[in-house]
Amino acid sequence: MVKIAVLVSGGGTNLQALIDRQQAGELGCGQISLVISSRAGVYALERAEKAGIESMVISRKECGSAENFDKKLVSELKSHGIELVVLAGFLSILGKEVIDAYPNRIINIHPSLIPSFCGNGFYGLKVHEAALEYGVKVTGATVHFVNEVTDGGSIILQKAVYIEPDDTPETLQRRVMEQAEWELLPKATAMLCEEIQKEKDNK
Ligand code: GRF
Repeated sequence: MVKIAVLVSGGGTNLQALIDRQQAGELGCGQISLVISSRAGVYALERAEKAGIESMVISRKECGSAENFDKKLVSELKSHGIELVVLAGFLSILGKEVIDAYPNRIINIHPSLIPSFCGNGFYGLKVHEAALEYGVKVTGATVHFVNEVTDGGSIILQKAVYIEPDDTPETLQRRVMEQAEWELLPKATAMLCEEIQKEKDNK
């Protein structure tokens, strides 16, 4: 099995999609072993608990500095034997120490077709507001590797979603989740777990 940590900050519908696929036996050799939230009291933590997955809160504020936050994160990931880190609506930026500890082993889901509507400041509804304001007719979601550039790592999977004439940021956000995010994130996770397992088998 390949041990996965899912990092969250909010409602956790992408976490739920991963849990559902795992329960349906569709996450390949991936095993969600840990959920880390950057905020206390979020619904994603309840989803983890209901699924019987260990969870914890690591908040940047409580850590005092970005460096301490990164250190704490790496030490928890390593002590739990985590091999793949999945960012599912995680709103804290990861520092170099975390990225260097998991080269090509951290992935993120972004709710647009990168390189459109991405980078610093493009999160949550803001992404969909920007797409509507620009007037694009197609948007979507992207799963990509995480490096030191926000939304800048290489792309793993993308899926397009059509924009409807009467869309609001909220209806568009929902459709992008339903038609793209909840499918792509588990798919990319399963693909990478397969790769990691093969690497381990060949050692
Ligand atoms: C999703 O739109 C995801 O693409 C973005 O943050 C949102 C998280 O939603 N990175 P949820 O917490 O998974 O419901």
